[in-house]
Amino acid sequence: MAAQRTERTPSTTTDPQLPTSSFVVVANRLPVDRIEHPDGSVDWRTSPGGLVTALEPVMRSHDGAWIGWHGAPDEKLDPFEDGGLQLVPIPLSSSEVEEYYEGFSNGTLWPLYHDCVAHPEFHREWWDAYVEVNQRFADAAARVAEHGGTVWVQDYQLQLVPQMLRAQRPDVRIGFFLHIPFPPTELYQQLPWRRQILEGLLGADLVGFQIPGGARNFLRLVRERTYLVPKRDRVEMDDGRTVTARAYPISINSAQFNELARDPKTVQRAAEIRHDLGDPKYLFLGIDRLDYTKGIFQRLRAFGELVEDGQIDPEEAVFVQVATPSRERVDSYRLLRDDIDRLVGRINGEIGRIGRPPITYLHSSYPREEMAALYRAADIMVVTPLRDGMNLVAKEYLACRQDDTGALVLSEFTGAAKELRQAYMVNPYDINGLKDTMVRALTDDPRARARRMKALRKQVFDHDIDRWAEDFLTDLGKADPQDRHENR
Ligand code: G6P
Repeated sequence: MAAQRTERTPSTTTDPQLPTSSFVVVANRLPVDRIEHPDGSVDWRTSPGGLVTALEPVMRSHDGAWIGWHGAPDEKLDPFEDGGLQLVPIPLSSSEVEEYYEGFSNGTLWPLYHDCVAHPEFHREWWDAYVEVNQRFADAAARVAEHGGTVWVQDYQLQLVPQMLRAQRPDVRIGFFLHIPFPPTELYQQLPWRRQILEGLLGADLVGFQIPGGARNFLRLVRERTYLVPKRDRVEMDDGRTVTARAYPISINSAQFNELARDPKTVQRAAEIRHDLGDPKYLFLGIDRLDYTKGIFQRLRAFGELVEDGQIDPEEAVFVQVATPSRERVDSYRLLRDDIDRLVGRINGEIGRIGRPPITYLHSSYPREEMAALYRAADIMVVTPLRDGMNLVAKEYLACRQDDTGALVLSEFTGAAKELRQAYMVNPYDINGLKDTMVRALTDDPRARARRMKALRKQVFDHDIDRWAEDFLTDLGKADPQDRHENR
């Protein structure tokens, strides 16, 4: 989510010499995005989203290789090294960006896997592009992984890669982790290519999900849609392999966020932010990619009504909403942006006064330092997705707190709600309930609020990203790759 400038100058190429590594991550995005400015200068920025926030520290401590797209179309780049990490850029043409990335990944799978909160579209040419690009990622992984190495494939954009890679490299251990929800079978069945995707995932030795419900949905589908019969969390395959499906709730580098928030520059910036907002008594905060799954509309509407009803005094409280631009050429994202613009304009127009808009809306991405300052400054963090695999923003907020002040309002439809049970839970579809809970978080007995915060912070510090990676990789390490199995 955060933008950070870094300087790297990889050259463009036609036939790259690929590095090799015994530990390879394959994700749609590299941890950095290449941004070319109109004057021809180039910047590299931290890629958006929770996947990169979570995985980057893991990879930096493993000295591995990371295969992914660098975020710009029609550009072939040589592999390059960045702080001990080998980055292997995979090119995507403009039409692949349209059909594989914006189309099948974000116009079909994303809404389908998020409870169909937007309508998934099914187009055969999008599927064809998805197959082709997955094959390209699998081919690159097959070249980069050393004999007997480990390849860890990430997320919904690359669900065919495990099987495609196994076909070429039965010697490697293959893990797959899905960062978003895995939908209930009733919704998943809509997908015309449901069998192919299941087979793609079953190419892995270990398939990880955010919550146990995701693993259960997957195993149930395997039972219903293939002739295989899962036993508990395992599926015995015809080739003698065993595929395990299990939950590994992802987290963040909690200590690093905490340290960043403790930095005197962050402390000063947090004070500046509050001051610039007119030193409000209460600061509500939302930080998200501008995505229709995040429930941004619902939370701003609830806040607007609370001010209109007189339950919150606009002289005392402000809402800061950061919405990082995302997938802007996809229709549903364009529509959402217009809806939020209109809603914020209406609320501020009707109940704001000069110099005191109730909502400060920032449609932009910011560096991690600025996020940490916002988390520090905020009294109430409002996280209201309609559906979310995990939600790392909630965890970042908790990690950035330095004591037991503050409060987290959290949607029960996030993966994080399974772990962060002491949060003020909401159903974001229930606007009245959301309003009541926001007020409750604000007016609760400070001791009760502090007890919740203490437990929440403990959870985030005890279950950080290292623990997640270790749990997953330890289980993956127990897998018996196919060729070793066959040669026994
Ligand atoms: C979510 C997904 C990631 C994705 C990120 C940003 O966190 O799980 O796979 O990278 O959003 O979305 P984008 O489309 O910009 O990569």
